Amino acid sequence: MSVSVNEIQALARENVKRLSPYSSARDEFKGIQDHVFLDANESPYANGFNRYPQPQPPQLLDQLSSIRKVATEQILIGNGSDEILDLLYRAFCEPGKDSVVYMPPTYGMYKVLAGINNVKAKELPLQAGFRLPMQEITRAVEEDPKGLKMLLFCSPNNPTGHSFPAKEIEKILEVFPGLVVIDEAYIDFSSQASWLERLSEFPRLVVTQTFSKAWGMAGLRLGIAYAHPEIISLLKRIKPPYNIDSLSQLQGSEQLESWDEIQRQVSEVLQERSVLAQALAQFSFVEEVFPTDANFLLIRVDDAQRRYDELLARGVVVRNRSKEHGCENCLRITVGTPSENKQLLDMLNQMQST
Ligand SMILES: Cc1ncc(COP(=O)(O)O)c(C=O)c1O
Repeated sequence: MSVSVNEIQALARENVKRLSPYSSARDEFKGIQDHVFLDANESPYANGFNRYPQPQPPQLLDQLSSIRKVATEQILIGNGSDEILDLLYRAFCEPGKDSVVYMPPTYGMYKVLAGINNVKAKELPLQAGFRLPMQEITRAVEEDPKGLKMLLFCSPNNPTGHSFPAKEIEKILEVFPGLVVIDEAYIDFSSQASWLERLSEFPRLVVTQTFSKAWGMAGLRLGIAYAHPEIISLLKRIKPPYNIDSLSQLQGSEQLESWDEIQRQVSEVLQERSVLAQALAQFSFVEEVFPTDANFLLIRVDDAQRRYDELLARGVVVRNRSKEHGCENCLRITVGTPSENKQLLDMLNQMQST
């Protein structure tokens, strides 16, 4: 076995390594369409959906492989990236024993999944200016080099919107002994390069992405893990046999064929984002508009609950993130269509003049 495979195996849970995955009818016979299929106790009456889907969608895998330039054996498609994150916890973290590290304020599911899976969460808050706590990360590694199984963060980060510096991420990849999960849910809106380009350099790196943001398919539930083939193989052992339904497989593929339209929408969001950022900064009750690399803006206002309620009363729903570390009186605002953004600005103007 290569060094990388050994390294990954050493991190995985013993029971997962020993597991024989459920072998579905579709796993055992990956067949020619005109055969008579009497192997899966399905209904024989064709309606487009009477057959079980493929355990992983072959067409989607090929499309992702060609768009992102990653081999198909390094890709796993999940029921949203939330399922991918859950699979990572379950494959690598021993309940009641192992720990994960994440840095608030960040995506709330890292904490929720630690709770669900009974995995200890080491929270190392971001420092002033939402900077990575580099010294605290190094100290945590020194204190518990064996028990820290994963470090998770999103870049661009939710809810702050900013990306972390590549040099610091590189340092984390060098010092952290477990898996480093970089959640790139918002990467298509970012001016920074994806870490997919560096996947082959770091065998313990997992990059997650999603169809839910720039690709416009949050309702389908499609998320992606890109990682070393050994990590993908471990995740496949524990995933539900048919985790992606046929409709999502079809619609997801169709959406990726409209790549030019996705790019057009991303450009429009980016243009609207800078218009919004400038306009928001003019309101007297807006104290700070944070720099963003995502499809949303974090702003600090005089009184977040009051401004949230005033917007709601005018039919505009934003997210009050005040309870998050370092986000006192902060609202998170998603960039909408040009007309939605105009509506938001009209309502803020109304609020300013009352
Ligand atoms: C950083 C981040 N990761 C993952 C997700 C969830 O993505 P999915 O819809 O693929 O489960 C979100 C959703 O808001 C997110 O903000």
